[in-house]
Amino acid sequence: MKLARFDPAAFLASHWQQAALQIRNPWDAWQCPIEPDELAGLACEPEVESRLVEQSGPEIWALEQGPFDAERFAALGAKPWTLLVQAVDHHVPEVAQLLSQFRFIPNWRIDDVMVSFASTGGGVGPHFDQYDVFLIQGRGHRRWRIGQRCDDTTPLRAHADLKLLADFEERAVYDLGPGDILYVPPGVAHDGVALDDDCMTLSIGFRAPSRAELITGWSDHVLDELGEDDRYGDPMLPLQDQPGEITEAALARLQAMVLERLADRAGFARWFAAFNSAPKYPDMDWSSEEPLTLEEVREAAQGGTVLRNFASRFVFVRENDAVLLFVDGEMRECRGPAARFAEALCAKHEIALGEIDDDMLALLLDLANRGAIAFAGED
Ligand code: SIN
Ligand code: CO
Repeated sequence: MKLARFDPAAFLASHWQQAALQIRNPWDAWQCPIEPDELAGLACEPEVESRLVEQSGPEIWALEQGPFDAERFAALGAKPWTLLVQAVDHHVPEVAQLLSQFRFIPNWRIDDVMVSFASTGGGVGPHFDQYDVFLIQGRGHRRWRIGQRCDDTTPLRAHADLKLLADFEERAVYDLGPGDILYVPPGVAHDGVALDDDCMTLSIGFRAPSRAELITGWSDHVLDELGEDDRYGDPMLPLQDQPGEITEAALARLQAMVLERLADRAGFARWFAAFNSAPKYPDMDWSSEEPLTLEEVREAAQGGTVLRNFASRFVFVRENDAVLLFVDGEMRECRGPAARFAEALCAKHEIALGEIDDDMLALLLDLANRGAIAFAGED
C-alpha cells in the first residue's frame, strides 16, 4: 500500500509543523492494516500499553488503563467508548509497513503508531498534543474538529489524566472516511468523534525532545566523565582592589569551563543518537536464549533476508568517514561496505543480503544477538 497521491516535498514546505491539512484518500488501494479483534487482543497483552475511554455523559469521560480481560469488551454497553492501543507497529507488521510510508520524516522524529477503535460517539475529548500527528482513518468514519493553538498556559478541565481543554474554539470540521488522513501540527486543539460503530483511527505519532530533556540528558552525560580534580585554577592571580568582587575575568573563565565541555559537538552527536535510539519498550527484543554463532549467521545471511525488529530504533550519525550506527541506544562504528550497509538498515525494515564481508557479518551477529534483527525464515 503506497501513499500514491501525496507530494512529501510540497507537504513539508507548506504544512509540516505549520498548519492542519486534510488529505483525501491518497493511497493507491487503501486497506486497513489491522482488524478490530486483533486490536482488542493486543489490549489484553500485559506488555502492550492500552487505554479505554468511556463517556458516561455529554462532558464526562472515564479512563481505564490496560491490560484488559477479554470479558471487559463484551461488557461494554451503549455508552460511547474508545479503545486506544500504543505502538501497534511494534506488534503488527502490516502496521509497521504503513508507518514506513511516512519515512519522508527522519527516523529519529518518528515515535510509533497508536490505533483506536470506537463506538458511535466515542472519542478522547478535545485536547492538544505536544507532537505532530497524521490521523489516518482506517475504517468507518470520524468527525474531526480542529481548534485553536494551545500551549502550557492553556486552561484544562479538572480531569488530570485526559488533559481535556476547558475551551474549544472551533476553526474547521472534517469528516474522514477510510483512507483519509488529517495532519495536525503540535499544539493545535483537536477533537475526534466516531460517526459509526466501526471507527478505527491510526495515529502516526512523532516526537521531539524538549530543551529541558536535552540539557538534563547531555549535562548528566558530560558530568559522568568529569573528575573532582578538573577544577577552577588561577595561577598569576592579579591583585584586585575589592576582595568582595568576583571579577569579569574570573566569571569568563568559570563560564568557559561549563560551555567548553557542553559545546563538544562530536560527543553531543554520540550522546544524542544513543539517547534518541533508546527503545521505548525494551522487553520487545527478538534475541534467542541461545546466542547465535558466527557460522550460524554466515549461513542465515547467505542469499537471505534480514528483518529489523519493529520495536528497535535504528539511526546513524556520520563521524569523519565512519558511520556510527545506533540501535536501541548502543553504538557500532562502521566503515566501508559495512557503513553503506548500516545506512541501508536504517532506511528499511527488510533487506535482501548480497555480498557480505567480515565487518558486515560481525555487525549482523551483534545485532541478531541483541534481538534487533532476525533472518527471514526464522521465528
Ligand atoms: C483517537 O484516535 O481517537 C485519538 C487520536 C488523537 O487525538 O491524537
Ligand atoms: Co490527539
